[in-house]
Formats: sequence, C-alpha cells, structure tokens
Amino acid sequence: MRKKLIAGNWKMNQTVTEAGHYFEKFKVKAREDVDLVFILPFTDIPVAKFFISRSSIGLGAQNMYPAESGAFTGEISPLMLKDLGCTYVICGHSERREILGESDEFIARKVKCALDHDITPILCVGETKDEHDAGKTEEKIETQVRAALEKIPTDKVSNVVIAYEPIWAIGSGAAATADEAEAVAKLIRQIVKNIAGKKVSDQVRILYGGSVNAGNINDFTGEKDIDGALVGGASLKPEEFISIYQKA
Ligand code: G3H
Repeated sequence: MRKKLIAGNWKMNQTVTEAGHYFEKFKVKAREDVDLVFILPFTDIPVAKFFISRSSIGLGAQNMYPAESGAFTGEISPLMLKDLGCTYVICGHSERREILGESDEFIARKVKCALDHDITPILCVGETKDEHDAGKTEEKIETQVRAALEKIPTDKVSNVVIAYEPIWAIGSGAAATADEAEAVAKLIRQIVKNIAGKKVSDQVRILYGGSVNAGNINDFTGEKDIDGALVGGASLKPEEFISIYQKA
C-alpha cells in the first residue's frame, strides 16, 4: 500500500516575510494516510521550519547541486539541505530543464546524490505541447525515466518519487484529464518495473502535476497509479492547499 503524497512547490514565490504570514494562516489537521510536504525557495525554509517543526509536515528544496561542498558558486549541497531539515528535493523540474538547460545526465547525478544522502528525490518528467501533439509522450517519458533511474541500485529505486508533469498543463489552468495522467502514470510504473522489478514498481510513488487545484485533486488521486500531486500555483494559497490535502 503506497502512502499518498501532496507536495506544494512554491517555485520562486514568497519572501521570508510573506512566508511567515502564510504559515501563520496554515492550520491543518494531519492525516495518517497522506504525506504533506512544502517545497520552498531556500530562503523560506528556515521560517517554515520554525512554524511546522512540531508537526508531521515535511520540507523540501527545489534544487540541489550533486556534491557535498566545493567551488560551485550559487549552489546548495545535500548536506546544507539536510541541516535545514529538508527530506525531499525536486530533481529535473521542467522549468530547470528548459530555462537553465539541465540535461538528463545532470539530473541523474542529482537523483543519485539525493538518495546517497537519504533525501527523497522528486524526479519530474513530462512532455512539451509539441511532443504531446506529435504522439511522442511515451518516448519522452521513457527517455527521462530511464536516464534518471538506470544507474541507481535497484534497492534504492523505490525511494524515488516520480512526478508526471506535462509541460503544457503547468500553470495553464488546463490540467490533463485524469485518464491522460493515469495512462502516463501506468507507463511510468511499467518502465520502473522493467528497470527494477515488480516489487519496486509496486512501491514507487507517482504524482501528477499541472494545474492541480481543490476542484480536480480527487480526479487524480482516484486513479490506480497516481499517488498524489505536485502542486504549484494552488499551494500558494493556504486555504486551497489545505483543501487539496484534505481531499486527496
Ligand atoms: O511543480 C509544480 C508544477 O510545475 C505544477 O505547477 O500547479 O502551477 O500548474 P502548477
């Protein structure tokens, strides 16, 4: 039985002051059956930790450099994240792939480094609108999933969370249909099975991301292979994010 996961990715939003106001309003009744995680800008992580330290809410970062320390100006290491209380990190969000040119190979190094430091990587995969329209979704997903997982020891693959985020659905207000998302989640589970075996593929958590809100979360979490959501815009509104968590 896989535990559901709702992760709120604030992206590059909320100053420390704004984050403080947010968490003053964020009062939620914890659920045993759903993990809740905030994936925050680095600067907001300490303030979030102050507010949620006595709860079961998890903390994560949006990026990490795959080395413990060194001459990597502007980067953040897994040791720094762990010291801040982060137990999750996003690897390969499409915005970083597209805007910052992150390659499958570099993302694979981040996923492996996160696992080596007992940080749960949330590996993002997804196709562009052009790839979707050209019927290339499966090919793209297989390439991205294989690149990130093939060099990881089989026994560690179940610790990776995979988020299917069709790029055309992100921030558009037009989410994929639950059927579309489930078809890709099922494909991802099959790819994981081919790489690491059935036991691992049954354990790995697969999220959907792309214009998730309080009105459509149930459509996705009602699907067999979808174990939760990576929520962007709607996680910036405390009441709506609480509602998403409660409905998941
Ligand atoms: O990481 C989150 C996703 O990119 C989804 O963003 O919910 O604003 O569409 P969105």
